[in-house]
Amino acid sequence: MAATKLSIIIFGLAIWTRFTFLQISAADATSYIGAVAEYYPTRTGRDGQINTLANAENIVTIVKKASEYHADIIVFPENGLAPGLPNYQTNRTHFLSYSSTIPDANTDTPCTNDSTLVSPAIRLMSCTARSQSMYLMVNVVEMEDCTATGTKFRPCPNDGYFFYNTNVAFNRNGTIVSRYRKFNLFGEAGLNVTSTPDISTFTTDFGVTFGHFICFDILFKTPTLSLINHYNITDILYPTHWFSELPYLTAVQAQSAWSYSNDVNLLASSYNNPATGSGGSGIFAGTSGQLVSLWSENATNTLLVAKVPK
Ligand SMILES: *[C@@H]1O[C@H](CO)[C@@H](O)[C@H](O)[C@H]1NC(C)=O
Ligand SMILES: *[C@@H]1O[C@H](CO)[C@@H](O)[C@H](O)[C@H]1NC(C)=O
Ligand SMILES: *[C@@H]1O[C@H](CO)[C@@H](O)[C@H](O)[C@H]1NC(C)=O
Ligand SMILES: *[C@@H]1O[C@H](CO)[C@@H](O)[C@H](O)[C@H]1NC(C)=O
Ligand SMILES: *[C@@H]1O[C@H](CO)[C@@H](O)[C@H](O)[C@H]1NC(C)=O
Ligand SMILES: *[C@@H]1O[C@H](CO)[C@@H](O)[C@H](O)[C@H]1NC(C)=O
Repeated sequence: MAATKLSIIIFGLAIWTRFTFLQISAADATSYIGAVAEYYPTRTGRDGQINTLANAENIVTIVKKASEYHADIIVFPENGLAPGLPNYQTNRTHFLSYSSTIPDANTDTPCTNDSTLVSPAIRLMSCTARSQSMYLMVNVVEMEDCTATGTKFRPCPNDGYFFYNTNVAFNRNGTIVSRYRKFNLFGEAGLNVTSTPDISTFTTDFGVTFGHFICFDILFKTPTLSLINHYNITDILYPTHWFSELPYLTAVQAQSAWSYSNDVNLLASSYNNPATGSGGSGIFAGTSGQLVSLWSENATNTLLVAKVPK
C-alpha cells in the first residue's frame, strides 16, 4: 500500500471483542458490525489490469483485518479497485483492460463458478467475501456488451460496450447479490448511465436491507430518496471519491448531514488522496449522530469499524 500502515478506529465494540470466537450478528440482534475503509489506492505503472489486481490484494488485507473485529459488512470506495491513471480516465480502450462484466444479482458466485465471466480482481473479491464470511461492497468499471441490446434510442457505442461506474455487493458466500450503476456522473467522460436510475437493494442474514448509491448521487433526489421513501430502506452503503470544497461541501459534513436529515444509517467509504481534497469516511446513525468518522490531511489507509444500531 502506498501508505503502508493500516490504522484502525473502532466505536462501540468492547476491546475483548476482537479475541472472542464470535461469529455473525443475529437477525434479531439490535445492532450489527459495520466497517468502511478510507483507502489510498495504489497506482503502479500504466497497466490497468496489474494496477487493479494490486488494489484487490490490498483490499484482501483490509477485509482480513476487519474480520478480526467480526465485521458483518465492509465497504470500499468509489474507484478504489481501479483508480484512473493519469490521462487515461476517459480512455475506453483502456477501460477494456481492467473493467469487468457483472452478472445480474443472485445468479453467480464467481469464486466457485468458472463460467462466470468476471475480471480476475472481481473473482478475488468473491473469494475474499467467501473466505472471510463477510458482506463486501466494491466499486468497479463495469463493461456491458451491448451489441445485441442497443436500441435506436439508446445506441450501442461503436466499441460495442456500455461502461458504467458500478457498485457490486457480495454476500458471505461470495455470491453477487446487488449491482448499482451510478446515475449522476460527476463529469466522468467516457462512462455511460442507465436510462432510469437503478434501485439497488439486498437483504442480509443479520436482518438489515441495504440500499446503495455512489458519491455525487448524494446531492440528487433519485435514486437516493426513492430508496428511503418508496422502499423503506434504513441503511445505506456509500462508496465515494469526493472532492471537498469549503464551506459547505466537505466530505464528512455532507455525509453526516444526509444521514441526519433522512434519519438513516450511512456507511461511507472514501477514496483517499489529500492532494485533490479527496477523503473523509464515516459511519453515521441518523439522528443518533455520528458513530465514527475520519478526515485526514495526510495520505492514509484507515479501517473504521462500529457497532451500528438497527
Ligand atoms: C488508450 O488506452 C490504450 C490501451 O491502454 C492505449 O494503447 C492508448 O495509447 C490510449 N490512448 C490515449 C489517447 O492515451
Ligand atoms: C455459473 O455461471 C454461469 C454464467 O453466468 C451461469 O449461467 C450459471 O447458472 C452459473 N452456475 C451456477 C451453479 O451458479
Ligand atoms: C451459502 O451457501 C450455503 C451452502 O451452499 C447455503 O446453505 C446458504 O444458504 C448460502 N447463504 C446465502 C446467504 O446465500
Ligand atoms: C456511452 O458513452 C460514450 C462515451 O461517453 C458516448 O459516446 C455514448 O453516446 C454513450 N452512449 C449512451 C447510449 O449513453
Ligand atoms: C413501506 O412501509 C409502508 C408503511 O409501513 C408500507 O405500507 C409499504 O408497503 C412498505 N413498502 C415497501 C416497498 O416495503
Ligand atoms: C501531514 O501533511 C502535512 C502537509 O503535507 C505535513 O506538514 C505533516 O507533517 C503531515 N503529518 C503527518 C502526521 O504525517
